[in-house]
Amino acid sequence: MGWICGRDLQVPEAAKRLLAEVPEWFGLPEANADYIEAARTKETWTVRDDDGNVIGLTLVDRHFPHVAELHLMVVDRDRHGQGVGTAMVRAVEEDARERGVQLLEVKTLGSSHPDPGYARTRHFYEQAGFLPLEETNLWGEANPCLFMVKPV
Ligand SMILES: CC(C)(COP(=O)(O)OP(=O)(O)OC[C@H]1O[C@@H](n2cnc3c(N)ncnc32)[C@H](O)[C@@H]1OP(=O)(O)O)[C@@H](O)C(=O)NCCC(=O)NCCS
Repeated sequence: MGWICGRDLQVPEAAKRLLAEVPEWFGLPEANADYIEAARTKETWTVRDDDGNVIGLTLVDRHFPHVAELHLMVVDRDRHGQGVGTAMVRAVEEDARERGVQLLEVKTLGSSHPDPGYARTRHFYEQAGFLPLEETNLWGEANPCLFMVKPV
């Protein structure tokens, strides 16, 4: 089965569905509500399957002209490990290069938290070329927030 990756219109309903599929990563109702709200307005990249269903979603923030932040990244649970996330990183990166963006940024749960799911997530970002930059308490003591960056 094929799929297509690229810039898309806002897809808040897909955001809601995809987040609900992975409660081990996105289990905080208030945070999920914020992400679904963000999906109404933020720059959106998707992977869609042959039937047009959204199977991967990335929201992008642009705090400065030289940086693009992956604000949210989530892939359909049944499609994990099939290259969907990597395709979205590549697409945002290619666009970044064309716009003169120099850094990609992502925030995720840091390694001082024992969660095994986020250990896989960090591995995903590392294999996609991101480097750990700094662990902070931006999300409170209980949820160490790791900044990762990738030079473009
Ligand atoms: C993290 C995520 C976006 C990666 O997308 P993906 O399409 O599954 O990843 P890809 O197939 O492109 O890349 C595969 C690599 O990611 C790693 N990976 C990380 N999380 C994984 C998961 N849940 N399932 C399968 N592979 C995963 C694999 O080990 C693999 O690396 P390897 O080739 O060195 O073994 C996706 O798995 C996901 O939505 N996870 C749950 C939510 C999440 O973590 N979001 C990010 C929060 S900051």
